[in-house]
Amino acid sequence: MTPTYRGTVSMRAMARNWKAAGQTIGLVPTMGALHRGHLALVQAARRGADRVIVSIFVNPKQFNNPEDLRKYPRTEGADAALLATVGVDAIYMPTPDEVYPPGFATSVSIGGVSLPLEGERRPGHFDGVATVVTKLFGMTLADRAWFGQKDWQQLAVIRRLVADLNLPTEVLAVETVRDADGLALSSRNARLLPQARSIAPALARNMALAVEALRAGHDPQAVLPVAIDAIIAAGFDSVEYLELRSADLLEPMAALDRPARLLCAAWLDGIRLIDNLPV
Ligand code: PAJ
Repeated sequence: MTPTYRGTVSMRAMARNWKAAGQTIGLVPTMGALHRGHLALVQAARRGADRVIVSIFVNPKQFNNPEDLRKYPRTEGADAALLATVGVDAIYMPTPDEVYPPGFATSVSIGGVSLPLEGERRPGHFDGVATVVTKLFGMTLADRAWFGQKDWQQLAVIRRLVADLNLPTEVLAVETVRDADGLALSSRNARLLPQARSIAPALARNMALAVEALRAGHDPQAVLPVAIDAIIAAGFDSVEYLELRSADLLEPMAALDRPARLLCAAWLDGIRLIDNLPV
């Protein structure tokens, strides 16, 4: 059984002991409902730090939709069992009151990279992420923390946060883990009914075709609408955005003149899926 900490004080005390013994601490922040994508982060952390803490906290501050927060899968037992198969030193599973006690009044707000795409459509989301990640770094004394490229904009926001606030935690990224048919693993996939699940890989498939066309030199203004049509034709309800952005600053790009990323959010059977690919 992996030791599980629910209190900030006990988690910090353990972390201090590890530090005193000269050990480095790696953190993998999650909201639970763990899958192979999360485990890839844990495995990278095991290679990159002496001690690994996995935090599991469904952070109310980053949900702009209360229904989404309510419906978010909570699978504590299965999560602990999965982590036991990989082996971690601690699971940190604080309660909302522990993280946000009465009187809590601070928010970390980031401009620039957090404003477009997800930031535009989910007001307050990245402030919620940045606030909780700053707190988790402090609570666990993490030397390094691992994040997935699956949430490319989140990764960019956290890099900005760490640089701007001089946080002493190094941010490391892990490539998106996918099912055999290309669908990016996500806790939300569990909510896809069989019919929708069979349509879902069309998102990554058509994004990959668009990437090929962009690399071949075709004009983004021609390529992107074709990809959107193909995603809808495959059975998606709508495409919220499909955009070519600069890889680091997420600036709009009219032509492929620097490293770029293709980012998408689309709705399938009432479920919002996001994905991104390097261009
Ligand atoms: P969550 O959605 O649980 O994701 C936790 C971490 O796992 C994130 O860094 C995410 O990018 C990564 N991840 C998810 N699916 C992945 C996949 N298919 N391949 C690789 N990595 C994947 O992201 C959050 O939680 C929260 O916003 C959090 C950072 C914990 C702050 O609350």
